Amino acid sequence: MVLQVRPTGAALGAEIIGADLRSVAEREFAQIHRAWIEHLVLLFRGQSLTDDDLIGFSRRFGALDWAPVQETGRRFVEGKPEIYVVSNVTENGVPIGSLGSGEAVWHTDMSYISDPPKASMLYALQVPPRGGDTGFVNMYGAYEGLPELLKRRIEGLKLKHDGTYNSGGYLRLGVEAVDDPVNSVGAVHPLVCRHPESGRRALYLGRRRNAYIIGMPLSESEAMLDEIWSCATRDELTWYNQWRVGDLVMWDNRCTMHRRDSFDAGDRRIMHRTQIKGETRPAS
Ligand code: OGA
Ligand code: MN
Repeated sequence: MVLQVRPTGAALGAEIIGADLRSVAEREFAQIHRAWIEHLVLLFRGQSLTDDDLIGFSRRFGALDWAPVQETGRRFVEGKPEIYVVSNVTENGVPIGSLGSGEAVWHTDMSYISDPPKASMLYALQVPPRGGDTGFVNMYGAYEGLPELLKRRIEGLKLKHDGTYNSGGYLRLGVEAVDDPVNSVGAVHPLVCRHPESGRRALYLGRRRNAYIIGMPLSESEAMLDEIWSCATRDELTWYNQWRVGDLVMWDNRCTMHRRDSFDAGDRRIMHRTQIKGETRPAS
């Protein structure tokens, strides 16, 4: 079957219509893959996936990374280390997932490790009646939209992506609460990367908190990062998904960042995520 690709009309994102992700033919897969490289984020509505279905579809794109350990230290979903649970639901007083019900700030998944996943897939099992929308930003557009002088100044620079806090502001397990960007743990990546499949240049940012441009006095790094971040997260570069149960959204971590709106803590939201291994990133 030929799938329909319906671009969101925003700076990124397209909905794929007609796909059942439990059984994707080779030709459909090729079409999905092309659409993903072109639109950066894909939305598939009306899916009904088990964890194994989610893992199976994710593996079409490459080997999977294990999920990060939860804030509670738990590695949940027994026997399925590929599944990361994003949820505010608690059972016996213990959260079943990460990120609570507050805002999750702009970030790139797992960029605090040296070989971060190239893609993430997030599948909605339960959603609140309002709030909890997830926004994406086009990091090709973020790079291209920088003032020319700033583009020249950041050429060849490297950025440390902080590994201390997750996007919900929670301290990662086993990590010391260091708030000094120069000395906090993290991984170093080029600030501008070339996407290995599209060949296009993208800004590669991670998280703002504790980020640090290697080799600069801290105050200069902070000022430059503030300027870069305010350019990179402009509304016209974004698209938001208002979740419905059965939505699967996949995004490219090499050329997008994402964030999440808060929602009422009394509502239940349960999402399951996979993360697909990236190749080592070539320098810009
Ligand atoms: C994620 C993430 C936000 C959300 O799964 O990586 O950031 O909307 N999720 O749940
Ligand atoms: Mn994320």
